[in-house]
Amino acid sequence: MSDSAKPFTYESLPDLSGQTAVITGCSSGVGIATAMELARKGAHVLCLARNKEKTQPVIDGIIKETGNEKVEFIPCDLLSLRSVTAAADAVAAKALPVNMLILNAGMIGAPGKMARSEDGIEVTWVVNHFSHFLLARRLLPLLERSVSLGTPARVVAVSSAAQSFAGYKEGIRFDAYDDESKYEMFNRYAETKLANILMVREMQRKVEEKLGKGVGFYANSCHPGAVNSELGDDYVWSWIRPVFSAIKSLVMITPSEGAKSSVFLAAASDVQTHNIRGQYYMDRARPPKPKDLCAAAGDEALAKRLWEWSEEVLTEKGVGV
Ligand SMILES: NC(=O)c1ccc[n+]([C@@H]2O[C@H](COP(=O)([O-])OP(=O)(O)OC[C@H]3O[C@@H](n4cnc5c(N)ncnc54)[C@H](OP(=O)(O)O)[C@@H]3O)[C@@H](O)[C@H]2O)c1
Repeated sequence: MSDSAKPFTYESLPDLSGQTAVITGCSSGVGIATAMELARKGAHVLCLARNKEKTQPVIDGIIKETGNEKVEFIPCDLLSLRSVTAAADAVAAKALPVNMLILNAGMIGAPGKMARSEDGIEVTWVVNHFSHFLLARRLLPLLERSVSLGTPARVVAVSSAAQSFAGYKEGIRFDAYDDESKYEMFNRYAETKLANILMVREMQRKVEEKLGKGVGFYANSCHPGAVNSELGDDYVWSWIRPVFSAIKSLVMITPSEGAKSSVFLAAASDVQTHNIRGQYYMDRARPPKPKDLCAAAGDEALAKRLWEWSEEVLTEKGVGV
């Protein structure tokens, strides 16, 4: 449901010709469905993904189904800050107006053992938060430029309901993020998904502080629902996968249903009409009830601390933002 009481439908989206969307994680699940619906409405879609062999057939499929040829692959491995920086540069080099940035890619770290990226950052933190923070920071000037040219800009961070039931009371344990002895897979996932919510809230506040209150910039986050995607499949024993997959298809929603909140927040006119900024939406574009968010998600000081800490960690890793 959107704010306007009627359930959101993809058909209700405005024409998006002339607008550009940048999406991470378009090689499977919710990301494919999001790219598909934006392309169907005429957007130029830049698909940032790490695996060209897997993603190009997806892109070809989107082009075939929608007739929109402006769907492109840009290499981006979120486990590498160098790759993310190069991807941001590649987007900028296109000299397109960037109107939508959808931070969709995500992963659950391995059970039991903490793993690190090539930059030495724990993998859940770098894929789900730091790389998206870096990408967003690098693309913010392009989004702000679109705003100044009179087209609204939208940022959507795909979070998870896990933030409300699997996280820590204090929200984020900044001091423990690099400590292997304090690594807990589900709590870590929940922390990073809370970071998605806090990051866009702080981004909204910062952009309004810079460009003025009520400016055409809308940064929001969402939970896609329990979606039948590839998320977590790596940790299922291969012999049980066929059964697991059959159960998932019975109890979970399709990626197309799961993409509704992202697409709504990225492109629906209701976002402007109802002034939806810094919000967290539930599955199928439903506004949240108070119980849908953990207490820390509304903590402005925590959002500011996350922003500053993210800058500090990236600077430590030799990447300026
Ligand atoms: N599925 C659910 O029930 C559920 C529930 C709540 C929230 N979410 C969130 O929804 C978002 C979309 O997930 P999904 O359900 O569509 O899962 P998915 O099918 O596993 O898709 C995840 C996407 O992230 C990409 N990704 C992972 N690591 C990457 C890396 N290092 N560099 C670049 N891309 C990377 C994957 O690329 P590869 O194909 O190359 O691995 C894939 O395209 C995630 O943020 C997830 O946390 C999902």
